[in-house]
Amino acid sequence: MEEVIKYINENREIFINELKDFLRIPSISTLAENKKDINYCANFVMEKLKQAGMSRVEVFQSEGHPIVYGEWLGAPGKPTILIYGHYDVQPVDPIDLWDSPPFEPTIKDGKIYARGATDDKGQVFMHFKSVESFFRTVGSPPLNIKFLIEGEEEIGSEHLEPFINNNLELLKCDAVLISDTSLYAPGIPTLTYGLRGLAYMEVEVTGPDRDLHSGTFGGAVGNPINTLAQMITTLHDKDGKITIPGFYKDVVKLTKKERENYKLLKFSEKKFAKECGVSKLHGEKGFSSLERTWARPTLDCNGIFGGFTGKGAKTVLPSKATAKISMRLVPNQDPNKVAKQFTKYIQQLAPKYVKVKVSNLHGGFPSMTSLDSKASIAAANAMEKAFGKKTVFIREGGSIPIVTVFAKKLKAPVVLMGLGLNSENLHSPNEHFDLNHFHLGIISSANFIEEFSAV
Ligand code: BES
Ligand code: MN
Ligand code: MN
Repeated sequence: MEEVIKYINENREIFINELKDFLRIPSISTLAENKKDINYCANFVMEKLKQAGMSRVEVFQSEGHPIVYGEWLGAPGKPTILIYGHYDVQPVDPIDLWDSPPFEPTIKDGKIYARGATDDKGQVFMHFKSVESFFRTVGSPPLNIKFLIEGEEEIGSEHLEPFINNNLELLKCDAVLISDTSLYAPGIPTLTYGLRGLAYMEVEVTGPDRDLHSGTFGGAVGNPINTLAQMITTLHDKDGKITIPGFYKDVVKLTKKERENYKLLKFSEKKFAKECGVSKLHGEKGFSSLERTWARPTLDCNGIFGGFTGKGAKTVLPSKATAKISMRLVPNQDPNKVAKQFTKYIQQLAPKYVKVKVSNLHGGFPSMTSLDSKASIAAANAMEKAFGKKTVFIREGGSIPIVTVFAKKLKAPVVLMGLGLNSENLHSPNEHFDLNHFHLGIISSANFIEEFSAV
């Protein structure tokens, strides 16, 4: 093992340079114009998996973006791990707010800046390099390894779920390892045991069948933007509770023990407010920020548009208004059930003078992973050794919907060993990844392989 770690330390700069090549590819999954880059990126991942020592590598075409699979099964009798991650990234806008171009990786103060740096290319790459380091030093890793790297995570993993269902034998494993979450704080080894789910809705409100002059008609015809805004504000009460009937029915309440554990993390509300750039925090009454973001469901308007949005003034009573509304869900909420409850309620809130169309864009189940599994224990030890500190256990507010599919279909424990930071601007301008965490992540991955091979 010493040899492996030595190799990782000696190759630190080379690994960073290779990561740059990965980050240069604009693999934005949601934009049709980047389809070529997506395909190029899938092939890049395939090449890197070969380089990492995988003996069988395949790019599976799907109706959406390609899924890359790699395996090395040269350790019969030893456990098999499946490493999952995503090579797709979010769009870059607003581009003006980037200090360096999003697809020209730039290093500043020990951090690498590029779209996808922390979410998730940098984190995926840690595992490529740790596995490769075994082959280059001790001949091979001490257990069997499978990689599953997809290109549709940021748009809901629509085609990955059927792929998993159709390939249960291929993906069979003893544990699923994912690095696509965050550390609790810089330098603190962290395992995540809970993620929120998601129900993402779009609401379109139509008033008059065309835009009208707001002087001639205003006052006599209902304005869809005013109406939609009113409907949206009705979705919360004065205590910050969501008003959709039945919404909280399946919510698992925080236990006293969990609330106490959160307190032990010594979270600073003040520092958090500052990091978010707000003078005061706001949310559901009776809960701390950690509780609100980790263990309570929420509803947020992600975008709203309609009418005249150009420069200057145009007097118009618009025909349509649209809002994108997402709900983060917690165990045991069901995204399909919540989508139905939302649709019914929003239709009820609509006054007779407008028409409302509701669409369910995508969704995902919340997840909880066991901290008692051998894989979790191995991961906690692996990180502890790499960082030289005790591992902390947290939940997080983000979503990785495929986690529950792995747990249910592959019946394997899932380990969320993320090396990102919430302050690394994922989905936002100037996304970056701490290169020290990148390096410690490679070591943690190697340690995990070693630890889990012995269980
Ligand atoms: N890696 C994130 C999820 C995440 C971020 C988990 C930070 C924990 C901490 C993932 O790529 C992501 O952005 N997921 C989407 C969901 C998807 C269905 C669009 C999300 O959470 O919005
Ligand atoms: Mn991600
Ligand atoms: Mn993401």
